[in-house]
Amino acid sequence: MRASGVRSRPAGPALLLLLLPLLLLLGAAESLRRALPPRRYTPDWPSLDSRPLPAWFDEAKFGVFVHWGVFSVPAWGSEWFWWHWRGEGRPEYQRFMGDNYPPGFSYADFGPQFTARFFHPEEWADLFQAAGAKYVVLTTKHHEGFTNWPSPVSWNWNSKDVGPHRDLVGELGTALRKSYKPDLIWSDGEWEAPDTYWNSTDFLSWLYNDSPVKDEVVVNDRWGQNCSCHHGGYYNCEDKFKPQSLPDHKWEMCTSIDKFSWGYRRDMAISDVTEESEIISELIQTVSLGGNYLLNIGPTKDGLIVPIFQERLLAVGKWLSINGEAIYASKPWRVQLEKNATFVWYTSKGSAVYAIFKHWPENGLLNLVSPITTSTTKILMLGIQGDLKWSTDPDKGLLISLPQLPPSAIPVEFAWTVKLAGVK
Ligand SMILES: *[C@@H]1O[C@H](CO)[C@@H](O)[C@H](O)[C@H]1NC(C)=O
Ligand SMILES: *[C@@H]1O[C@H](CO)[C@@H](O)[C@H](O)[C@H]1NC(C)=O
Ligand SMILES: *[C@@H]1O[C@H](CO)[C@@H](O)[C@H](O)[C@H]1NC(C)=O
Repeated sequence: MRASGVRSRPAGPALLLLLLPLLLLLGAAESLRRALPPRRYTPDWPSLDSRPLPAWFDEAKFGVFVHWGVFSVPAWGSEWFWWHWRGEGRPEYQRFMGDNYPPGFSYADFGPQFTARFFHPEEWADLFQAAGAKYVVLTTKHHEGFTNWPSPVSWNWNSKDVGPHRDLVGELGTALRKSYKPDLIWSDGEWEAPDTYWNSTDFLSWLYNDSPVKDEVVVNDRWGQNCSCHHGGYYNCEDKFKPQSLPDHKWEMCTSIDKFSWGYRRDMAISDVTEESEIISELIQTVSLGGNYLLNIGPTKDGLIVPIFQERLLAVGKWLSINGEAIYASKPWRVQLEKNATFVWYTSKGSAVYAIFKHWPENGLLNLVSPITTSTTKILMLGIQGDLKWSTDPDKGLLISLPQLPPSAIPVEFAWTVKLAGVK
């Protein structure tokens, strides 16, 4: 996995970056290094938007999002704790502070309790790898300004001066890959001001033309008011964006295992935790529609990832270990959602077509209307040996006989993939 970090940046533009009152997340990715033809971009949207997206991002398909910072200390409500408490003065936050902290306790007083004492970046890296993630996006700086690296412009409000006394971004980056170069900048907070306020186009033209990561870096679309879903690299549009048909621009769905927060909350109930089948279902739909899926967890202030999040991540990893062939480096097929069986989503790779189905038909026959068979058609199920029998029916289309297996022999419990070769 590609590592994240900021120290390798030249001082000037790095300062510009750090001064942005945005949520900046630097990502890490495993990738194919593909040099882009050298060309200069000018600091305007038509030029910046014309940059081809480095290929690694589309091939990666699945990433892990990590919200971690001082908000992980109160670990209550959401990662916007500071804003809900001090900015909006929500009564439940006033009550929570009154009940649990001495009078006069400030948000900054949480800083020293952000210890990261049990943070072992290699363990995180191993977990994310086992989850099948190809990139990691960490909150290097959330909206209250605390930086998870020793930022020279966030004096006394960063993870080296306060709390862990460690460079958390750098350590995780090293564990992910022996490099210090950010590959992905996930900008946020764009609703606060126009892109001209942050000089976003100046920053991006430097990033694409002259930065040490100019060939591989990927950015999102939150660079100022009205940029989201219109300008930048790939599109996040709104949080948890879920298009219903194939967009014509690369996009990413970001979502959180905890349905109500991105940061860790001690008050999370089991019913707040997204089901494994829903996570896998969203991953399939997202990839079928050409998107990447960025799944969030919130570690504790100690740097632990609680077992329920580990369990969900490992479930995705187990599913991908069988079905990853239909996901990684796949492309949308000419049909995304099967017309007559809306539990079937398609992807493709080269001449292979993958039909991922979310319900096992009771009669053991999977009926597909979109693929057109030929004299060379061959069909198999990922994770199962041998070809499957199939036939065509003039009224119904393709009928695939699914293997009759005891539950213990079925490779995954939810969502199976048939691979079709020699179909049109
Ligand atoms: C963003 O769009 C809204 C609605 O169209 C418009 O009122 C506003 O001026 C735009 N802001 C910028 C910075 O372009
Ligand atoms: C944008 O650039 C101008 C001119 O160099 C500078 O005065 C201003 O501070 C910059 N804005 C930000 C948010 O850094
Ligand atoms: C698919 O559904 C449509 C509409 O319900 C129906 O008219 C058509 O016969 C179905 N086709 C097949 C092959 O089942």
